[in-house]
Amino acid sequence: MINIPPFVQNLVPYKAGKPIDELAREKKLSKIVKLASAENPLGPSPKAVEAIKKGVLGLNRYTDPASYDLVQAIAQKYHVQPNHIICGHGTDSLLAYIVSAFTTEDDEIITSEGTFIGIYVTIRKTGRKLIQVPMKNHGFDLAKILHAISDKTRMIYLANPNNPTGTMINREELEAFMEQVPKHIMVILDEAYTAYANGNPEYPNGVRYDYENMVVTRTFSKAYGLAGLRIGFAVGPDKVIEALYKVKLPFEPNLLAQQAAIAALDDEEFLKKSIELNKKSLAILYECFNENNILHVETSTNFILTLMPTEEFARDFANECLNRGLIVRHVDTFGISNGIRINSGTIEETEFATGIIGEVYQLLKEKNKTKNI
Ligand SMILES: Cc1ncc(COP(=O)(O)O)c(C=O)c1O
Repeated sequence: MINIPPFVQNLVPYKAGKPIDELAREKKLSKIVKLASAENPLGPSPKAVEAIKKGVLGLNRYTDPASYDLVQAIAQKYHVQPNHIICGHGTDSLLAYIVSAFTTEDDEIITSEGTFIGIYVTIRKTGRKLIQVPMKNHGFDLAKILHAISDKTRMIYLANPNNPTGTMINREELEAFMEQVPKHIMVILDEAYTAYANGNPEYPNGVRYDYENMVVTRTFSKAYGLAGLRIGFAVGPDKVIEALYKVKLPFEPNLLAQQAAIAALDDEEFLKKSIELNKKSLAILYECFNENNILHVETSTNFILTLMPTEEFARDFANECLNRGLIVRHVDTFGISNGIRINSGTIEETEFATGIIGEVYQLLKEKNKTKNI
């Protein structure tokens, strides 16, 4: 009989936002809008699509394990030395490598409650000890994180901006924090939503720093529209990157992902269009939340966290939206039991969504009237 370690037995498989096809099959709906996975509603970068079409003919060859051309392109774009960069199969994959390369089972990793579920899964599946610190104003409480550091702490994870709350740690806060973190503790700064926050002069932009104990992760899944391709990169001290190459699967990321990412980096027009659309679409969502008195958190990303009166209300809200063809994300698994995360869509998608959001919220308010919520 095979022995499955207790930490694996206790894991819960990752539950992503409901796929559109699945909902269409279940509910026989003619129109479905998915605003549940913080994806880019404009599709992939057109330049990336062209690169993929060309790259297909090279699929008989193994890819370059060092992603040479992509690393050079990233180095140029962000003014970072190539030996400080590693590419991987999305941020998820890089986070798993970072955790397994720099911690052991006896070590503690500190992060916040109410942050990216992927890091919780990664820490738990490797049997590391996860320490979750409560949030402050729906953001990372950096003072409490510092306070939680023990002899066993080896790593701290921050998402900036954060998913699912959309909050941002500013430059001054990050720098003061880094000054106080002991140098033997690695800080992961996950910047998946950097493109949406970058316009803010207070945004720290982690790739500009060269702390000896910080590694920054970025993804092409969001503003570049390549979530399905799986491609991301990490920037950190050369010794850290060298170690990560030792644990990375050799032919990751795949050939098409590497070539598409090079093209996407060059697609300034698409990036600009994505950021502009996001701003307009978020404005429509804010207006809807304000009109309907739906509590929400100011965002620096492409989604907004709304806070429903109770967990049950949030569950019903997500289900009633599903019944009407709108997929939103109940973020109970992220640790926010009454939270519903809704991302920006095309203008048409967002308008469709706000109609449903308003209707469902008022319906549930009415239904729960006697409960005084
Ligand atoms: C904070 C954060 N980090 C990482 C990821 C995953 O990125 P990738 O698609 O590159 O694995 C996400 C995706 O939702 C995210 O919200």
